[in-house]
Amino acid sequence: MKNYLASRSKQSLSKTDIIAIANKAKLDAAKGNKIINASIGTYLEEDKTVGYLPVVKETLTKHITDSLGYSNTIGDQAYLNGVMKYVFEDKLEQINKIYAPFIGSTLGGTGAISIIFNLYLEEGEAVLLPDVMWTNYMLLAQQAKASYMTYKMFNNDNRLSIASIRQTIRKAFLKHQRAVLVINDPCQNPTGYCMDQQEYDELFKMLNEEGKKGQLVVLFDIAYIPFAHVNYDQCPLAGKLAEGNTSFLSLICFSTSKILGTYGLRMGALIALLDTKNERDALAASFAKIARGTYSVPVSSGQAAVAKIFNNPEKVNQLHKEIKELSDRLFKRSILLIEKLKEYKIEHYPYHCGFFVTIKVKDAFKLSAQLEQEHMYVVPMNKRSIRLALSGLTEVEIVTLIKRISELN
Ligand SMILES: Cc1ncc(COP(=O)(O)O)c(C=O)c1O
Repeated sequence: MKNYLASRSKQSLSKTDIIAIANKAKLDAAKGNKIINASIGTYLEEDKTVGYLPVVKETLTKHITDSLGYSNTIGDQAYLNGVMKYVFEDKLEQINKIYAPFIGSTLGGTGAISIIFNLYLEEGEAVLLPDVMWTNYMLLAQQAKASYMTYKMFNNDNRLSIASIRQTIRKAFLKHQRAVLVINDPCQNPTGYCMDQQEYDELFKMLNEEGKKGQLVVLFDIAYIPFAHVNYDQCPLAGKLAEGNTSFLSLICFSTSKILGTYGLRMGALIALLDTKNERDALAASFAKIARGTYSVPVSSGQAAVAKIFNNPEKVNQLHKEIKELSDRLFKRSILLIEKLKEYKIEHYPYHCGFFVTIKVKDAFKLSAQLEQEHMYVVPMNKRSIRLALSGLTEVEIVTLIKRISELN
């Protein structure tokens, strides 16, 4: 048989890739089996329909065909303005005063991360990732020909291990001049951890110290930002960035997938808080070249429709209200799940809010395989931990799944 596939492309998704596991679950369900799918981070209502926000659905229905032509390579300007307003809220004026911000529209948050790893790292330079993480970061780093190192996410007090992040930055700078550190907050995937003001203060202090020793790029992945409302009204990140005067480059990965429930519409953005207009022009040129050389332009119809929400204060208020309601329903599930974990004495990483809880088990791969035999799908994150996506589970399923996990563990 002729082998047409180039050897550099002979690779496949790992067996523990989240989308691959979710597809297995779908196929199993299609065979008529009753499954429990705790693998995928899509918010489902108790009746298993994809949860939607009325303001988003209504606006998409009205405006999805308003713009069917090609978008600019960088993105639809109204969408980009709207995302900046949504992300920085009352801090936007200050951000525009102290930085020369760049924003480009991407294919989801994944697209933003992929472009960032390609833009900011030479081959072999390292991405610094938490030891318990959204595993797709590793694949994205690999595709960008970057390497990765991991930092310990939690210290002995179950708080962000700033000491370990510092150590990992230093280790990276021993090998290379540059590093991209990934901070996924709030509602970290897969633990549901949220950093508080004190952790942000300490993190920024440390980053300012280490940033003086090399080219430190910090990627703040805010894919789940509004789901942290149970902790505070506004995530401390925007306030910290608005203080300015940093010795590192701050980038933001924005995604509408979870925030608006538009998972399949593939919208996101890369924001870079640069110092000068020249730097912004240079980034715009490099960003445009990567975009044109891969997917060409972002999705125009989605951007134009979503811009109608982000640029309309009344609709934004409505959006906040609807996300809060959905997030409250999610939080209610988490209370039940944590209660069950306590009852069965299953340890878990510190959880505050968000789509996922990660439990600590004896053998994650073995347990996941056993659960799969019984049509239950979870995601092993590493040898000792398993991610449960409470976003897709009903209360009845939570009770069944946790009981079975405790029996098999
Ligand atoms: C932490 C994190 N970042 C980024 C993304 C990217 O999402 P999308 O590409 O759908 O915007 C996800 C999706 O699951 C995620 O969990």
